[in-house]
Amino acid sequence: MIEQSVFGSIKNGTEVKSYTLTNKSGMKVKLLDLGATIAEIWTPDRYGKFGDVVLGYATPAEYENNSGYIGAVVGRVANRIGGAEFMLSGRKYLLDANDGKNTLHGGFDSYSTRVWDATTEEMRNRVTFKLFSPDGDQGYPGNLWIKVTYTLTDEGELKIRYRARTDQMTILNLTNHAYFNLSGKLGAADVLDHKVWINSDQMTPVADSASIPTGEYRDVAGTPMDFTAPKLLGQDIDADYDQLNYGGGYDHNWMLKRGDAQIIMYHPETGRRMTVVTDQPGVQMYSGNFLRGLVETTVDGKAVTVPGHDLMGQEIQYRSGVCFETQVPPDAVHHDNFPNCILMPEMEYESETVYRFDVAEEGFWE
Ligand code: BGC
Repeated sequence: MIEQSVFGSIKNGTEVKSYTLTNKSGMKVKLLDLGATIAEIWTPDRYGKFGDVVLGYATPAEYENNSGYIGAVVGRVANRIGGAEFMLSGRKYLLDANDGKNTLHGGFDSYSTRVWDATTEEMRNRVTFKLFSPDGDQGYPGNLWIKVTYTLTDEGELKIRYRARTDQMTILNLTNHAYFNLSGKLGAADVLDHKVWINSDQMTPVADSASIPTGEYRDVAGTPMDFTAPKLLGQDIDADYDQLNYGGGYDHNWMLKRGDAQIIMYHPETGRRMTVVTDQPGVQMYSGNFLRGLVETTVDGKAVTVPGHDLMGQEIQYRSGVCFETQVPPDAVHHDNFPNCILMPEMEYESETVYRFDVAEEGFWE
């Protein structure tokens, strides 16, 4: 079932619509055409009580001014490009330096603050959002036609299928920036009491707090970055380790192994479990280390950032959500040894990430 309603409007007057998908067991996913955003995901805990397991805002204005990309699709190139420029086919392309000297999540005019065109398919419980990104948009070459399809299945899966075509060689790395918190307490509780497993032996370390990869692959064994055996997110997050010091916590890319599942997150108190399956080579696990001053606004003519509020009106707290941004590693365009993110006109970009929600059996990971 798909229910449509008006969520409000953004500054330029464009109306923002919401689309709520419901499955047979009553699980609900609310999507917005603003940013092709996941605004709410309602799943039951082990007592059958439903709770919202992703951070979301109450108003379009907060989404529009949000520096945390809450729930949105980010691109053209998710995460960072060092020096806000790159060479492709002998030409240099200049991007926005919207994160110090570097580009983050596309640049200033982010896909997350644009209103996408929506089409619904009631029978398939799916919504497709389309965005046209013209040649030169954010500084990237080539016209780009993007489609992101969200499907909610009766098996508790939210499937995200990304498709794109270009008419010129370009670079592309699309992902979703939802912040999960399986406690159902939204912005009021941190996620340090969640257990995480990542099917990965290696991560791509960053050089310093600007978070640009060095280009190496580093073994996680014996380090706080090791999630090959499930552990609490909070267990090692504040360890004195170069990568955690640079990121203020987890904000790194892990290289994923193939298999039936790449990531599992479990919340012992509620029994909620989320399993991530993706065809992408990596994942940015970002533990919400910058979730304090989120919303940009002006007070007495001065630009300031203020805390964002979740749907319950609660201030969104530090580390109250964790993102699993499935992707090609950050700054791949500058590292020949990383999987590349080049899209050619004769290719169709196609990728799928599935977030499956259920309640774990008694004794799971105890
Ligand atoms: C980045 C973080 C950034 C966050 C929100 C994540 O993908 O890795 O460093 O703060 O997005 O902007």
